[in-house]
Amino acid sequence: MPDAPIAALPPTVAWHGDLDGHLQLLDQTSLPHDCAVLRLDTAAAVADAIRRLAVRGAPAIGVAAAYGLVLGVRAAAPPPGGFLAAVRAAAAALAAARPTAINLQWALDRCVAAAQAEPTLERLLAEARAIHEEDVAACRRIGEHGHHLVPPDGTVLTHCNTGRLATTGDGTALAVLFAAWRAGVRFRVLVGETRPLLQGARLTALELAAAGIPVQVACDGAVAGLVARGDVQLALVGADRVAQNGDFANKVGTYPIALACAAHSVPFFVAAPRSSFDPCLADGAAIPIEERDANEVLELGGRRLAVAGVAARNPAFDLTPGRLVRGFVTDRGLLLPPFPAAIKALCGSGR
Ligand code: MRU
Repeated sequence: MPDAPIAALPPTVAWHGDLDGHLQLLDQTSLPHDCAVLRLDTAAAVADAIRRLAVRGAPAIGVAAAYGLVLGVRAAAPPPGGFLAAVRAAAAALAAARPTAINLQWALDRCVAAAQAEPTLERLLAEARAIHEEDVAACRRIGEHGHHLVPPDGTVLTHCNTGRLATTGDGTALAVLFAAWRAGVRFRVLVGETRPLLQGARLTALELAAAGIPVQVACDGAVAGLVARGDVQLALVGADRVAQNGDFANKVGTYPIALACAAHSVPFFVAAPRSSFDPCLADGAAIPIEERDANEVLELGGRRLAVAGVAARNPAFDLTPGRLVRGFVTDRGLLLPPFPAAIKALCGSGR
């Protein structure tokens, strides 16, 4: 192409209609070169879209799953008394689509609680819409709380995609960058390509270029060397699940960035909404790390890279210890160490 500017793209997640409506997702697997839209009418189709990353990014999959639950319960046409059982069954199926991002389970838990209070489809749809609206607002507040961190004339390193495609608002880490840019701060962004599915090269570069923010893509393996050379003044990434002590899971390749930043005294910050914090986990050891199909590593554009018979490892996320994090930019403010107390207060401040 010249690829479509992001502002011209359809929304990442949209519900069309009322109780008889359907879910529309922007198919991210074909970006940036093609812009395909999915019209989904079943919970199974939503779970499939989440599994194959047609919709991706921790907050966005939470919102999509909440709408998927409406579709699942509607199709089940549960008898009066069986409504909650249908909600729980559909929620369990959707939650199984991807294990690492807590936002998925968090959104479904909220919908189940809403259905317990009022077992109607109307209430489920209202909860999904509330989760959606709150996500947009949370992204805006993350930008407000973090934009002052961006160094004027500096280079910000980010990873994967944490923007308008990963959320239903401006993003998490990218919301901070968009807010700084709107406030008149000028800077450059370096983004790791994010092997194997290239969210950095395909999606983040698209979003930043569309906003007019200078962006360069680097091979993931080049990033530590660029940090060591003094080419990065701030690293800012998202999170899929943050434990009580600040350990967090994010896209594979985040941990090496944190190590390089620690070794070279570059500030390393994480941007994430309250819904990405898991109040049940004391530390990151128990965060489930998704292992995806080996062919994502062994093939590129449908062409085999390694000879037949060679195996691969494909963890989609890695775990970064909280001690490497300078601070968390959340929708409720900036959290600084010691993290256990700050995160406990965040999680206790409501949903
Ligand atoms: O596998 P993905 O593309 O869903 O991974 C996304 C990330 O790792 C993001 O950094 C994370 O969800 C936080 S962004 C809002």
